[in-house]
Amino acid sequence: MSETVRANGPMDTAGVMRLTTAYAESRLLHSAVEVGVFELLANGPAVEPEIRRELSLHARFLPHFLDALVALGLLEKDGESYRNAPAAAQVLVPGGEVFLGGRVRAAATKHYHTWGRLTDALRDGEAKAGGGPNAFKRLYSDPAQTRAFLIHMDANNGQVAPQLAATVDWSGIRDFVDVGGARGNVAAHLVAAHPHLHGGVFELPAVEPVFDELMAERGLTGKVTFHGGDFFADPLPATDAIVLGHVLHDWSGDRCVELLERVRDALNPGGAVVIYDQMLDETAPALRSLIGSLNVGLITEGGGEYTVSRCRTWLEKAGFRFAKATPFPQGNDTVVVGIKN
Ligand SMILES: C[S@@+](CC[C@H](N)C(=O)[O-])C[C@H]1O[C@@H](n2cnc3c(N)ncnc32)[C@H](O)[C@@H]1O
Repeated sequence: MSETVRANGPMDTAGVMRLTTAYAESRLLHSAVEVGVFELLANGPAVEPEIRRELSLHARFLPHFLDALVALGLLEKDGESYRNAPAAAQVLVPGGEVFLGGRVRAAATKHYHTWGRLTDALRDGEAKAGGGPNAFKRLYSDPAQTRAFLIHMDANNGQVAPQLAATVDWSGIRDFVDVGGARGNVAAHLVAAHPHLHGGVFELPAVEPVFDELMAERGLTGKVTFHGGDFFADPLPATDAIVLGHVLHDWSGDRCVELLERVRDALNPGGAVVIYDQMLDETAPALRSLIGSLNVGLITEGGGEYTVSRCRTWLEKAGFRFAKATPFPQGNDTVVVGIKN
């Protein structure tokens, strides 16, 4: 029988009360990013009337809103003047080394609303954000949305990329293709960390211009090749290793096996599939992972996070030998390696 790790120790009345309005804390952060509070205060401290004027906000809610951000630890207040707290300055100001604003915006504009329909989803088992097999193709019909989503993916995989470069043994591999590799952030890290590697990204064709932009920014044009196509319809390029990162969790088990079979067909003899996702602990799944699983489930047709043993079953069905599973030291992801039989 599996048990679930309690996130905050035993629940009590105060805990239940807090949970009833915990969404409000998320919304404070979402709105602060949406109106541009952290971006503005990156230029220096400001008092409430200045913030109001610069961000074109109404006087009614702003003082309590700003003080609530102070109470949350996102801002600091000195007299009447507000400034970014260190964590906000580090990850909520565009242009920094790590920028989580894209994730916050995605939570604000998409995930928050789908979570509002969790009760319906529990009753009908359906996604609540216009998922379906063509969800990515629909998203990519708008170039501005495409760019915003792909930049958001950089933040999603930014912590994974260096750990993937360090955890997997890339020494015997000449080339790899990151299938569903977004605009190539992970592939760029891998070729930079292991200069003997030639990298590829296989993605829906609409991703290419934003991929080209990133490669030019990193000085890697020509080091990573873009392959446009649909991974369920078009053949994948022959290669020594295929990366599938944050991809399998978007699909049902049957679709995962189908995709892994296509990966096996493309790999050179003895080639490796390298899978990373926020995998669920077999016996004591963490709250964060369970929330991640429900989150992806609410926006995809059959997706959800999975355990290493489920991944192993898919690999074996698709003609791979399970080699190993290694949790990354930081964050919540695990990397699984399978070798083509
Ligand atoms: C959740 S993102 C993961 C991106 C990246 N691997 C990462 O770790 O952040 C899934 C990616 O799969 C791509 N994708 C979805 N359906 C696809 C298809 N049928 N063919 C090719 N790529 C697809 C999407 O464009 C998207 O970039």
